[in-house]
Amino acid sequence: MEIKLKSPLDMHLHLREGEMLKTVAPLTSQHFSGAIIMPNLVPPVDNLDRLLAYREEILAATKGDAFEPFMTLFFRAYTRAELEAAMPHITAIKLYPAGITTNSEGGVKELADAEATMSLMEELGIPLLVHGETNGFVMDREREFLTVYEQIATKFPKLKIVMEHITTAHAVALLDKFENLHATVTAHHLIITLDDVAGGMLNPHLFCKPIAKRPEDRDALLNAALTAHPKLSLGTDSAPHPQHKKECCGCAAGVFTAPITLPLMADLFAKHDALDKLQAFVSDNAHRIYGVTPPEKIMTLRDEPMTIPEKYGDVVPMWAGQQLGWSVV
Ligand code: NCD
Ligand code: ZN
Ligand code: ZN
Repeated sequence: MEIKLKSPLDMHLHLREGEMLKTVAPLTSQHFSGAIIMPNLVPPVDNLDRLLAYREEILAATKGDAFEPFMTLFFRAYTRAELEAAMPHITAIKLYPAGITTNSEGGVKELADAEATMSLMEELGIPLLVHGETNGFVMDREREFLTVYEQIATKFPKLKIVMEHITTAHAVALLDKFENLHATVTAHHLIITLDDVAGGMLNPHLFCKPIAKRPEDRDALLNAALTAHPKLSLGTDSAPHPQHKKECCGCAAGVFTAPITLPLMADLFAKHDALDKLQAFVSDNAHRIYGVTPPEKIMTLRDEPMTIPEKYGDVVPMWAGQQLGWSVV
């Protein structure tokens, strides 16, 4: 069996810089026609000069592929002039609560301080992407943050808000309560639960923020993806860390999935007899939600097995060495 996907998009991607970027960026640009690029570099991408230089670095590493990096600025208090100057070059602005995940130390400490910029974004039509976790108990962080989403969605009804990498049934339910709320979900959160991370031998390559949750959460996410919920898009949150930062005491958070996501999704949707919904989940929904126009690209996938490589450069992918039922032709 074979399927064709038109212009797949990854609406949440980490590429890093330098050698790491050179290793991982082509793995995405070979399969996807565009991706939202996360700004949590050190220091963060929080001004236009840095953003334009970063974009050039990405374009150089993905040269020859039909691929558009959709750039984002790291949320801080921006002036109207800064936002207006950035607008032609950005797709969204990404908000991190301070210190909540990898390289987010410069994030937002008090929501009240963020409101002036949110109001400008609402007026100018710039989408707000959010890593939505509190600093509460690890399993409850996303659920606790949902009240913040409700506050922002109510206070700024015209602001397009994306709940990034949702992991709970509660977040799925919230999607239908506010017109201006949207979400991305990763490939791995459609498949794994906390059991896969820490139920048996600890698997550092499945450790990420937000942590994978309960089976009923995974099932709610999966149901939303398999039915191509119109407010949900694929955002892999593929987050490469070198092997020694994962296989150590004090493991970095992030799952690396970029090169296996499309076969993984074809495999998953085929198993659930939902291949007809894959195009919407990996592309059409995102086109509509973000209003992006990436280059056209047709990816063909076939139900021929692939063995996931042990490593890409110095990065160990999710399920290294295991078999998938589908592969990219
Ligand atoms: C991401 C990273 O490594 O940059 N890590 C993660 O566990 N998801 C940051 C993020 O998306 O929160
Ligand atoms: Zn995040
Ligand atoms: Zn991320």
